[in-house]
Amino acid sequence: MKILYVASEVTPFSKTGGLGDVSGALPAALAALGHEVKVVSPRYSSVQDARLTPTGHTVELRFPFGTERGPLLSLQLAPRLELLFLEHEHYFQRPGLYGDSGGEYGDNPRRFAYLCLGALQAAQRLGFIPDIIHVNDWQTGLLPVALRRGFQETELGRAKSVLTIHNLAYQGQFGKHVMDELGLPWELFTAERGLEFYDGVNFLKGGLQFADALTTVSPTYAREIQWPEAGANLDGLLRHRQGVLTGILNGVDVDEWNPETDRHLPARYGVEDLTGKAACRRELLRRFGLEDTGAPVFGIVSRLAWQKGVDLLLEVLPTALQEDIRFVAVGNGEWSYEEGLRALQRRFPDKVGAFIGFDPALSHLLEAGSDFFIMPSRYEPCGLNQMYSLRYGTVPIVRATGGLADTVDGSDDGTGIVFNDFVPEALLWALGRARALYADPERLRAFQRRGMVQDFSWGASARMYERLFASLLAE
Ligand code: ADP
Ligand code: GLC
Repeated sequence: MKILYVASEVTPFSKTGGLGDVSGALPAALAALGHEVKVVSPRYSSVQDARLTPTGHTVELRFPFGTERGPLLSLQLAPRLELLFLEHEHYFQRPGLYGDSGGEYGDNPRRFAYLCLGALQAAQRLGFIPDIIHVNDWQTGLLPVALRRGFQETELGRAKSVLTIHNLAYQGQFGKHVMDELGLPWELFTAERGLEFYDGVNFLKGGLQFADALTTVSPTYAREIQWPEAGANLDGLLRHRQGVLTGILNGVDVDEWNPETDRHLPARYGVEDLTGKAACRRELLRRFGLEDTGAPVFGIVSRLAWQKGVDLLLEVLPTALQEDIRFVAVGNGEWSYEEGLRALQRRFPDKVGAFIGFDPALSHLLEAGSDFFIMPSRYEPCGLNQMYSLRYGTVPIVRATGGLADTVDGSDDGTGIVFNDFVPEALLWALGRARALYADPERLRAFQRRGMVQDFSWGASARMYERLFASLLAE
């Protein structure tokens, strides 16, 4: 199959979260299965690579506000895997991907309309006629719409489109002036089969209506989003489209996240010999100015957002820290959570370390050096860090929601600690269980071993996407 994969971030070139990791790994896994894959993404200022070469093609799009154009760059990553970057100085050469400290960029509708239409035009320019166009999240929501209302008479029109929801809560909602601004036909401004949503424009909703198939990143989240609690006001539409909606669990990039080869670690280790993990722990604590007294180390790496339940964690930690434990955090995001972590660190300087910022190398060290990894999410479409933790022999403590429920086994001879209710008592109970487990080295070792040998590689997930694509082409 020929697959055009479009995403607003691709690790290691650009990343704000798990979407980047998935876009960096799934296309490669599909290419490894023998498919021809081209990935289209913006060239942000973070996209720097000596191998980038001009294709000689220019993307040129006419909007009511003027013609926007920029060169198309290419990076051939593997025989059947090409990355295509849309360069546009004004839209993409900025400090952030979606916004900066002042908030979301005001011209995001234009920027991501440029990505969607630019991706289709890039395929045309290269004479690449895909069978499948796979798009991701609201940033690419307009693409399935454009495919059926604009490009339907072109060669691209016969492609089937698949939209993956990585997070239903981010929808790309804008005022209705965006219809005229982007030159979208007003007949699409309907609630029934269009972009209209509470009298505004909703990019994700457009994609959910027009894509031929919908997926999300875990089976549990696929069920949850069909109900009001996790449905973000789109549950009705998703129930309506449940026949084409499936949950396919993300994999992890097992080369990037492998404690036996991880170049970010001071010592490497594997399931047979965990000695190196102790060295990682010492180095982690040293980096945070903490002493290794043998007390259990609890860690988090997270976008500091409401979704992640950082507030619940900040609520219970002062109690939990009465015991002899260490807590280390790497995260950035909402100011109040950043402040909360800083305040906790000031209050417990001998027990708490916090790095406020985005640091992939440090996140590897934290995964390796912690004994437990905490994810008290309110909701979690998939979550990758609990899988990284399992691979690193770091026992995850998770709330039973979305992909966390699908990947961590909370039974007595399972792989992690799972709690249900989003309340302080439940999280405290889970932290207590972790301490008890830590006090029983043999049991702890058994938990670690069971987690470390699990197979979370992309192969199985890629084959599920492959089957889905094939079923669409057979229609
Ligand atoms: P989400 O995409 O909702 O943020 P995931 O668990 O799917 O959650 O993926 C998060 C990814 O981003 C992981 O690879 C995680 O290590 C990384 N990450 C999050 N915050 C930071 C940070 N402050 N520094 C480095 N990496 C981070
Ligand atoms: C989103 C979700 C996260 C998921 C990631 C990759 O950012 O919040 O749970 O793992 O996408 O699919």
